[in-house]
Amino acid sequence: CAPSLTDIHGRTIRYLRISVTDRCDLRCRYCMAEQMTFLPRRALLALEEIALIAERFVARGVDKIRLSGGEPLVRRDVSELIRRLGRMVGHGLDELTLTTNGTRLAEHAGALVDAGVRRVNVSLDSLDPDRFRFITRHGDVAQVIAGIRAARDAGLRVKINAVALKGLNEDELPALLRWCVDEDLDLSLIETMPLGAVDEDRTDRFVPLTAVFDRLAGQFPLVRDTHRSGGPARYWRVEGSATRLGLISPLTANFCDGCNRVRLTTEGKLYLCLGHEAHVDLKAALRDGGLAALDAAIDRGLGVKPARHDFRIEAGAAPAVERHMSVTGG
Ligand code: GTP
Ligand code: 5AD
Ligand code: SF4
Repeated sequence: CAPSLTDIHGRTIRYLRISVTDRCDLRCRYCMAEQMTFLPRRALLALEEIALIAERFVARGVDKIRLSGGEPLVRRDVSELIRRLGRMVGHGLDELTLTTNGTRLAEHAGALVDAGVRRVNVSLDSLDPDRFRFITRHGDVAQVIAGIRAARDAGLRVKINAVALKGLNEDELPALLRWCVDEDLDLSLIETMPLGAVDEDRTDRFVPLTAVFDRLAGQFPLVRDTHRSGGPARYWRVEGSATRLGLISPLTANFCDGCNRVRLTTEGKLYLCLGHEAHVDLKAALRDGGLAALDAAIDRGLGVKPARHDFRIEAGAAPAVERHMSVTGG
């Protein structure tokens, strides 16, 4: 039996996040620049390699896998990958899930359910068509809302992810929570993180969630919920509804002590923290030395996992790391 995954700080790793593509059909202002250079397709891990690596992690104790990107549903063979990974659900894997921008969710919802997916997170920063278009540069909010409803109606539990943005959606967050209650969805609010150069200074858009929470608590009956999904969010429940409100506050409430995750990039590198460069090359290990070399590389990674990220929002400061969220998978 392969040794389980414990890092040098004594944290057990049970959650693998996989970025299946760095590409996306949107260009959210806090995530990407308008002109992005994406990786050449030949640099990407093949489906078979992603599956082998994921299966190895599950054999070593990972029980949750999230596919992300970029936008995972723009990868051509993603349905096949989801079906392949879905075979592990109930056989070591408790949860297979994904984070998507929702533009192609309507067409994929049924197949996701069939593959064993039970929950999806969908990014939606505004319900207003013009604002949504402005934030995402290309998006059509009606298409995303249709995707969200199709997913919910197919039986998926849907959580909305909204990055709080000053001057863009800050005033709308209570209305977004109201909409989530009415539509029977969960909502996670996120502080913007300094990852990769975008065309604007994120400092101008940063909103601490403490202030947002105070406003929401004045308008909704929020009760603290001890639920942990294995993620960084702290949760509240909106009393009288099924809606859970999550706050992800990397800047104002560090959650790294409980970190249980590692990230596989599109190119086959294993990043040990969203906010640091520390990584090992699993693609090279697998190609050169097979499963034994893969195991050894994973172990090396656990030995260099940073204790915590060190994100700061400072006017004019360079991003904490140069790579975009879309490469590491959020
Ligand atoms: P669940 O709790 O399983 O629903 O997932 P999640 O909230 O971990 O995942 P999701 O992909 O929806 O991510 C929501 C936000 O949390 C994104 O902005 C992520 O980048 C951020 N996030 C997730 N994990 C970490 C982490 O380890 N460190 C930091 N700094 N941010 C994270
Ligand atoms: N800071 C915070 N959240 C981000 N996301 C993308 N880029 C950033 C950033 N710089 C969010 C997306 C998506 C999730 C995976 O990460 O909105 O919901
Ligand atoms: Fe695409 Fe998600 Fe980044 Fe928006 S946040 S550009 S939807 S990867």
